[in-house]
Amino acid sequence: MVRELLLAIIWMIHYVCPSFQQDTTFVFNGFSQGDHHLHLDSSAMILPKNHVLQLTNATTTQIGRAFFEDLVEFKPSEPVSFSTHFVCALVPASEISGHGIAFFVSHSTDFIGAEPTRFLGLFNANGSDSTRVLAVELDTSIAPDVGDISGNHVGIDVNSAKSVVSANASYYSDKEGRKIDINLLSGDPIQVWVDYEGTTLNVSLAPLRNHKPSRPLLSSTSINLTEIVQGRRVFVGFSGSTGSIMSYQYILGWSFSKSMASLQQIDVTKLPKVPNPRNKKKSPSRLLDALLGFIAFLLLGLLVKAYMYRRNLYAEVREEWEKEYGPLRFSYKSLYKATKGFSKNEFLGKGGFGEVYKGTFPRSKEAREVAVKKVSHDGEEGMKQFVAEIVSMRSSKHRSLVPLLGYCRRKHELLLVSEYMPKGSLDQYLFDNNDRPTLPWWRRLAIIKDIASALSYLHTEADHVVIHRDIKAANVMLDAEFNGRLGDFGMSRLYDRGADPTTTAAVGTIGYMAPELTTMGHSTGTDVYAFGVFLLEVTCGRRPVEPGLSAEKRFLVKWVCECWRRFSLVDAIDTRLTEFSSEEVEKVLKVGLLCANLAPDARPSMEQVVQYLNGNLDLPEFWPSSPGIGVLTPTAFSPAQLMLPSLSLSSSSSNNSAFMTHSINYGSGR
Ligand SMILES: *[C@@H]1O[C@H](CO)[C@@H](O)[C@H](O)[C@H]1NC(C)=O
Ligand SMILES: *[C@@H]1O[C@H](CO)[C@@H](O)[C@H](O)[C@H]1NC(C)=O
Ligand SMILES: *[C@@H]1O[C@H](CO)[C@@H](O)[C@H](O)[C@H]1NC(C)=O
Ligand SMILES: *[C@@H]1O[C@H](CO)[C@@H](O)[C@H](O)[C@H]1NC(C)=O
Ligand SMILES: *[C@@H]1O[C@H](CO)[C@@H](O)[C@H](O)[C@H]1NC(C)=O
Repeated sequence: MVRELLLAIIWMIHYVCPSFQQDTTFVFNGFSQGDHHLHLDSSAMILPKNHVLQLTNATTTQIGRAFFEDLVEFKPSEPVSFSTHFVCALVPASEISGHGIAFFVSHSTDFIGAEPTRFLGLFNANGSDSTRVLAVELDTSIAPDVGDISGNHVGIDVNSAKSVVSANASYYSDKEGRKIDINLLSGDPIQVWVDYEGTTLNVSLAPLRNHKPSRPLLSSTSINLTEIVQGRRVFVGFSGSTGSIMSYQYILGWSFSKSMASLQQIDVTKLPKVPNPRNKKKSPSRLLDALLGFIAFLLLGLLVKAYMYRRNLYAEVREEWEKEYGPLRFSYKSLYKATKGFSKNEFLGKGGFGEVYKGTFPRSKEAREVAVKKVSHDGEEGMKQFVAEIVSMRSSKHRSLVPLLGYCRRKHELLLVSEYMPKGSLDQYLFDNNDRPTLPWWRRLAIIKDIASALSYLHTEADHVVIHRDIKAANVMLDAEFNGRLGDFGMSRLYDRGADPTTTAAVGTIGYMAPELTTMGHSTGTDVYAFGVFLLEVTCGRRPVEPGLSAEKRFLVKWVCECWRRFSLVDAIDTRLTEFSSEEVEKVLKVGLLCANLAPDARPSMEQVVQYLNGNLDLPEFWPSSPGIGVLTPTAFSPAQLMLPSLSLSSSSSNNSAFMTHSINYGSGR
């Protein structure tokens, strides 16, 4: 255990610190700051984070030098020789090159008169004034005045920037059996070996992962180091320079020894990475930056657009007075999602005043199904009152009313959320020749009783009198068990403008509108009238006004009365009905005619109607010729006003002037 710990510590020391064996045999696998074995000159520095030796940075006309602090001394008995192996990387700061670096052996650390640029911080135009230097240059710019062969060459320099020998940077690949060019300024790590023995100086290059080539790139056999440096004590190190063109010059690792045999291996796996200067490859990155910026801008724009779209999509109108209805308020977003964006697939139909969509709220245990009606409206007039009314309706929980669950307001739109009625509206079973089954008589009678009781409840038992304003088969919904449920109450109120009924354009549905409606406005009496028409249409299975039929049959109220006058009320019944009690049919039709009496005062109340239908009260005696029975209106509607072709109303009675027709609003009809 202790041994392992010790080994670990030794290993760490070995890893972190350069190792020194004998004298002046060393290896740096990367450099650490504050390493006292290296002397740094001018701009040379060790990058603390990267652990690399940086000779020059991307600043013009700089010199950077680093050399091993101790003299390398050759005893008289020793041969003057050395071997070194280093890994460097030259990273251009712009597309064109900087100058280069050199490994040097010198007699002094003072390089008096040395210049940057092509002189590598070692020489000047006159060579080297006082310092005697042997250098191996990795030159990345071409300077013809010092005899450079290219902008990418390796040379051996003796006391001058003019190389003794030089060659384009390349290496001999043993594997491929040929020379392969190396770009010194690629920014990639390059290995360099310099071996000196006798009078032979060999220089080899190779990319990082390669072995030392068997053949050197440069080999000079006439180098006498003792003569060059005039002694047996030398300094060894690196020098780099920049000119007007710059590059980052890095040494990543360095091994040195007096003999090839004792040279330690650089561990390439431990070498630091080449730092990535920010502005490496400036123009492409600038282009890239610009492109990225542009894309980011576009994305931002899209996001803002999407946000605005969503904001608009889900925008609502919410006012102070609505606070008390908080729990009833649905968010538009939730309704939008529940109806799948009011998709066509969820479209249930176009009821009075708006389109109805099916919505599903998946949150609750069983997915809750609702019907969402979109009512378009302009202006806020009457909205407060209307919302108050529908909210109050919510608390009236009669089993034959379609439960209203809540609402949502938007600009030009009101959304009403009510319980989903799976069987749709009653009119679809009565009139349309679709695949809906014919409802048997007993079912129709049950529905009639449901609606009568619901309407009676609205007129009498609710907190305050509620007028439905639009009783008709289309507004009677059927739940899963085909029970009749009255829906859409109060909708027409939204369209009643102004308080004075005499100036009001009354709204309702043609055929169900009591004659006095246009002058007097809505009342329980007008509801009773419409209910009477509803009784007739359910029993007879046809719409109150059928412009396609003969004049005799066109108006249901008149026709039922006519049947009664001629022979029997039962003749008016829906021909699809086979099993029924004539007695019940007659009673229902009579109640219908009674309710649709021209004179409001002659109509029964809904309470009485319920009693008639349940047999708790006998019907009053009356005949087809009784006043107000089977009579549509004393006023002659002009065909244009009703938009019905060749309309003729024969049975108008007296009192014409009493009922002035006002404009009739068609907005609501199916
Ligand atoms: C480069 O080094 C010089 C000298 O050490 C320094 O003044 C300059 O700010 C450095 N430039 C950059 C770009 O790092
Ligand atoms: C080079 O030598 C010449 C003549 O000796 C001298 O005039 C010049 O200043 C020297 N140049 C440098 C850079 O030292
Ligand atoms: C060195 O390379 C340059 C171009 O890169 C070429 O013109 C020159 O001939 C080469 N020199 C040698 C000695 O191969
Ligand atoms: C230099 O290279 C030559 C040729 O490959 C070789 O014979 C010689 O031993 C080398 N000398 C040194 C000191 O590496
Ligand atoms: C190198 O030069 C020195 C002094 O000029 C001389 O004594 C020595 O013999 C030379 N060495 C070789 C190998 O020629």
